[in-house]
Amino acid sequence: MISQTLSRKFDQIITRYPLKRSAMVPLLLYAQDEVGHVSDEVIAEVARRVDVRPIEVTEVISYYSMLHRQPVGKYNIQVCTNISCMLRGADELFDHCCQKLGIGHKQTTPDGLFSLEEVECLGACCGAPAMQVNYDYYENLTPEKVDALIDELKKKEPRSKI
Ligand code: FES
Repeated sequence: MISQTLSRKFDQIITRYPLKRSAMVPLLLYAQDEVGHVSDEVIAEVARRVDVRPIEVTEVISYYSMLHRQPVGKYNIQVCTNISCMLRGADELFDHCCQKLGIGHKQTTPDGLFSLEEVECLGACCGAPAMQVNYDYYENLTPEKVDALIDELKKKEPRSKI
């Protein structure tokens, strides 16, 4: 279900923590990168590796917006609409993203390129409004900056129909 390379990486990561269960989130992130999302099989494998029940892994996943139980687009755009970002235009920014991409919260464009999600605080409040695209942060955003970013990402994908 996971590659041998990832399996070896799991073995290494677990040794870095005094408690095995502390390695849970890193293991889930690496597995998600390889599999595309956190499948039931990933949950079972991670639970086995860190000696917890699968339900405990599921509970952790439900807390972290960067972990996905379903496949998402190649570029997963997460717009923070929590208080600091909200006060600096995050709701309008999220609406702008919806219009630009033609999708809503937790939806994916038909070509699978972009997913969009409204999320809680990303921990980048001093750069509000902020959003995260995969592992990259973007701060002090405006609709124009968002347009430029999305257009840039599209350019990397010549077959995009958006
Ligand atoms: S409130 Fe948006 S990053 Fe903290």
